[in-house]
Amino acid sequence: MILAPSLLSADFLHLEQEIEKINASEADWLHLDVMDGVFVPNISMGFPVMRHVAKTSVKPLDTHLMIVDPQKFITQFRDIGVQSLSVHYEACNNLHRTLVQIKEAGMKAGVVLNPHSPVELLADILEEADIVLLMSVDPGFSGQKFIPHAYDKVRRLRKMIDQNGLNTLIEVDGGMNLERGKLMVEAGADVLVAGNAIFKADDPIEMIKQLKLL
Ligand code: DX5
Ligand code: ZN
Repeated sequence: MILAPSLLSADFLHLEQEIEKINASEADWLHLDVMDGVFVPNISMGFPVMRHVAKTSVKPLDTHLMIVDPQKFITQFRDIGVQSLSVHYEACNNLHRTLVQIKEAGMKAGVVLNPHSPVELLADILEEADIVLLMSVDPGFSGQKFIPHAYDKVRRLRKMIDQNGLNTLIEVDGGMNLERGKLMVEAGADVLVAGNAIFKADDPIEMIKQLKLL
């Protein structure tokens, strides 16, 4: 299982120390949430901050774009060196072109589904996606209430991926903790994102260790 702590729950006044904790941990990726105040009712961080994050993190950056017109920014994300770029299905009019462009730029391409979007929407695009990120909360904030219907979506998507012989990764984001993370892995998830469960823990490095044992 791949574990991706979400920086959104970190102490933004001390980002360097927060990232160093992740660097020193068993976490696999660092999850960055990018919000524009249009696609979601919140604004997180922009390129001036992310450039510093990229320089400090030794973990590959897993970037979750909650913005309209994400295709406008593909080369800028490539230039700061992110590993993967995931765009919302609900934000893309030309999803196939956007995924192809992300891969041509040398990054892993991901598609994100909001809680209301069924996984079956991806039947004709799945083979272009390196990652499918399923939201288990409504996007926009960390520390929100988990939506249990996400377990069933993971199971249905696992079937679609296996039946087609694909190796697309299933990532789950929102309300993850030890208990739900275990159930998600059992349902077929490959990557877990966790914000509050890690950064609000007394000992984030120890919490990461526990999550990695799932
Ligand atoms: C929400 C973000 C998540 C969020 C997860 O829009 O996509 O990555 O930071 O935070 P938790 O794990 O606290 O729900
Ligand atoms: Zn996210």
